[in-house]
Amino acid sequence: MPTVEVLMRDGSSRTLEAAGGSPLMEVLRDADTGVEGTCGGMCSCGTCHVYVAAEWVEKLPERSEDEAMMLEALQDFVELRPGSRLACQIDFDDQLSGISVEIAPEA
Ligand code: FES
Repeated sequence: MPTVEVLMRDGSSRTLEAAGGSPLMEVLRDADTGVEGTCGGMCSCGTCHVYVAAEWVEKLPERSEDEAMMLEALQDFVELRPGSRLACQIDFDDQLSGISVEIAPEA
């Protein structure tokens, strides 16, 4: 099963296993990592903000315009980094097995 390496807000690390085929947000939300996914993946809440590790950033499709706008709206409240992504916009599958993300602070 594909895995996700997660750096939690308290500094601890977890390795999650999940079947592919769903958004990364759902994997993180269902594992109680602090990701809420309040809008259900509609790119409008920002509660699924994660920092994707540098070595994985280029393996992901570029941010859509909607994702970029939502991230921009968060920047007054939370640090944005080059790897900032909305986990609801990342389709988790075998290709992404081993991806490493840090849960961003709550905005
Ligand atoms: S779940 Fe709301 S922006 Fe991702």
